[in-house]
Amino acid sequence: MGAKAIVLAAGQGTRMRSAKPKMLHDILGRPLVGWVVGAVAAAGVDQCVVVVGHHADDVTAALPDGTLTALQAEQLGTGHAARTGLAALDVSGDDTVLVLPGDHPLIRPETLQRLLAAHTGSGAAATLLTVTAADPRGYGRILRDGDRVTGIVEEADADDAQRAITEVGISFYAFSGVLLGPALDALGNDNAQGEYYLTDVIGELVAAGHRVGAVAADPEDGIGVNSQSQLAEAAALLRRRINLHWMDQGVWMADPSRVSIGPDVTLEPDVRLHPDVHLEGTVTVAADAEIGPSVYARDSGIGAGARVWYSVLRDADIGAAAEVGPFVSLRPGAVLLERAKAGTFVEIKASVVGAGSKVPHLSYVGDADIGAGANIGAGTIVANYDGYRKHRTVIGEGVKVGANTTLVAPVSLGDEAWTGAGTVVTGDVNSGALAVGRAATREIPGYAARRRARAKRDET
Ligand code: UD1
Ligand code: CA
Repeated sequence: MGAKAIVLAAGQGTRMRSAKPKMLHDILGRPLVGWVVGAVAAAGVDQCVVVVGHHADDVTAALPDGTLTALQAEQLGTGHAARTGLAALDVSGDDTVLVLPGDHPLIRPETLQRLLAAHTGSGAAATLLTVTAADPRGYGRILRDGDRVTGIVEEADADDAQRAITEVGISFYAFSGVLLGPALDALGNDNAQGEYYLTDVIGELVAAGHRVGAVAADPEDGIGVNSQSQLAEAAALLRRRINLHWMDQGVWMADPSRVSIGPDVTLEPDVRLHPDVHLEGTVTVAADAEIGPSVYARDSGIGAGARVWYSVLRDADIGAAAEVGPFVSLRPGAVLLERAKAGTFVEIKASVVGAGSKVPHLSYVGDADIGAGANIGAGTIVANYDGYRKHRTVIGEGVKVGANTTLVAPVSLGDEAWTGAGTVVTGDVNSGALAVGRAATREIPGYAARRRARAKRDET
């Protein structure tokens, strides 16, 4: 007796009024459909298929690797989509088949488990999640005869009395696997939208003498996304839910309404988050790190006690007690070891900055390995690109790079080497040596007075 799942994600999402398919609209760095697929995976099913159609390739690419998909080439309605999905599953005897909408990102795994538990062994042909909605507009209304569910009527097909019903279906169902196929095959499309409605399966099963159960869900689980304003509402609720979770784990936030944390982020206790911090993808932050104001970090690691403010980190790693900011861009492959520093207006890419080393001001460091205890003077540029290829630069331990040095890669500076301010380094520098390459300063005495006299002459 297993559980299988079908996620419906083939629709265009016309009401979003966007060229982008609805399923790919982003919440906290994860596409809409990814939230539902994530909840299904966390609830634990044996097999899950996602029905794709509108921009099928793009939607498939946004799903976790290895996700099973089924193509609904023409979007003829939710019932037709469920049939397309069912054909891709291996359903046997007493399997339960969950059907879920791809546009309900707030669904919790626990709620799906509750639905499965209520259905399993109940003898019902189907069990559905319902919500009593403050504003039922847009949702299918639940029809009942006493306690018994008898059907669902879509808003477009409902009469005034039915429209007044506040108990709504949210498109989450558990079906007895063997009954679902024949019920879907029997669907017609004689309704206001000319579509094969999955909701009609409920009335059909009841008419055939089967029982349909209902499980009440928290209204928050039931929030669907059909428009941009509903997307923003769902995002705000998810952000709040995640922030409350991390605060319960001992994370400090100055203002949780101004912090957004993606679902794959991990934070340790006593992490401190100032306003306007955005953590997306797989970010991990160790204890006592202090982040923000104004930090965007994606797929990055931040070590214990590190300090990051007014900066952007993508695929970067910074060690314990490292300092980043203000106004730093750490690009893919930037690694700062413990106590390293990247200061004001510094960009670092595919480089390691050694323990305790400093790049304090106005520098570009690309494709470089910097040893421990080095100091990179203000305005230093690693010229890593020759117009065709990138080259690496190696800077040893304790090196002192003078202000405004240009390091023309490939080049290497031995341990304890120095460069003079303004030097363009084009060859390797030995350990302990000073490389200096610039014109000597010449002094011209009395220049200012002569210049002034000339300007005066020219005026007359
Ligand atoms: C649907 C339900 C409605 C319920 C609401 C909950 C039907 C007929 N209506 O309405 O009772 O209250 O969800 O949010 O089922 N899809 C496909 N292929 C299609 C059509 C839709 O895969 O041919 C997918 C969509 O991508 C979406 C889901 O099915 O993820 C629901 O479709 P949508 O058009 O949003 O249905 P609603 O009008 O919201
Ligand atoms: Ca919908």
